[in-house]
Amino acid sequence: MVHRPHEVTDFQEDIHVVSTADGEPIGVIAIHSTALGPAAGGCRFWHYERRADLTADAIRLARGMSYKNALADLPLGGGKAVLQRPAGSFDRAAMFRAFGNAVESLGGAYITAEDVGTSVEDMAAVRERTRFVAGLRAQPGKSGGDPSPWTARGVFESMRAASRFALGSDLDGLTVAVQGTGSVGAALCRMLRAAGARLVIADVDRRRVDALVAELGARAVGIDDILSADADILAPCALGGVLNGRTIPTLKARLICGAANNQLETEADGEALAARGIVYAPDYVVNAGGIINVSAEYLGEAPEAVERRIAEIAPRLIAILDSAATEQVPANTVADTRARRIIARGRRAAA
Ligand code: NAI
Repeated sequence: MVHRPHEVTDFQEDIHVVSTADGEPIGVIAIHSTALGPAAGGCRFWHYERRADLTADAIRLARGMSYKNALADLPLGGGKAVLQRPAGSFDRAAMFRAFGNAVESLGGAYITAEDVGTSVEDMAAVRERTRFVAGLRAQPGKSGGDPSPWTARGVFESMRAASRFALGSDLDGLTVAVQGTGSVGAALCRMLRAAGARLVIADVDRRRVDALVAELGARAVGIDDILSADADILAPCALGGVLNGRTIPTLKARLICGAANNQLETEADGEALAARGIVYAPDYVVNAGGIINVSAEYLGEAPEAVERRIAEIAPRLIAILDSAATEQVPANTVADTRARRIIARGRRAAA
């Protein structure tokens, strides 16, 4: 079933409902743009109070993927799947096989992989039903596997470059507050520690926090205190919408650079950050490492291509921050404008 939602964003193409074999709806696949290639983006598995919230999240995330893929110079459009995590017990493999059927029914218009709440094992269940999936277990000498270490690498390199650019300092001795210590957040914490940064961390999952406190000597704070923690840099690595009218006035960090998608609740929040003199590294610019790895796996590119593309992320960020500073425009606006321009060129070329 395909319908066009009322909440149309700038390039919105389609929303596809994902259902079980019994016809029970379990989520959606949002395709934002296929101007540059098949729509690529991970599958989020999360609990939403309302179906409308799930769909709105999928649409925003799909747009972010279009922009991310365009700026990362990948031959991919943008899409995202969001599945509702059931409250009680459920057959996980059956759910991801049903999702695989939905991906297959789109005939390659959408390519999936991991996102929040999904794993390499889930993608293996999807693979039973479709070949339009990446993030599968890596074969020796080939690209593939869990994308999150690559995402963490891109965020880390971006943070190091942005710290020099905006704070005039290397990470050694700086304090970084990391919100969310899941796959990306934990990997990022390890790299930061190795670079000599001090860590303040929070996660709703206390076991994850305790493990990193023991391993890295990080300082734990409550989930309500992490955004306003005393830190030089804030790295949002949990869910979106954390930078908003309520949180921005409380921030102490002077630089924000993290993995979470859609960190700004609205575009205007980018202006509010700029007005406070806080440098914001646009999320989809710095967190492209994962999709770069997914793309290489899907397109059969060698691991060296992944390294090369990830090495381009930090210089791309600095070019954006530099323009933002020179033109006195928020960095998210500079990034969005560049991404839209690339997509528009792709649309014209395809027409
Ligand atoms: P994950 O599911 O492994 O980790 C997310 C962590 O955030 C979990 O430990 C969860 O308990 C925690 N969390 C949730 N709400 C929280 C809150 N209010 N306060 C503190 N902690 C909270 O997910 P992953 O893969 O690490 O992704 C993190 C973010 O990065 C997500 O926004 C994701 O979309 C984004 N991202 C991930 C990529 C990847 O390669 N995994 C690629 C690009 C973006």
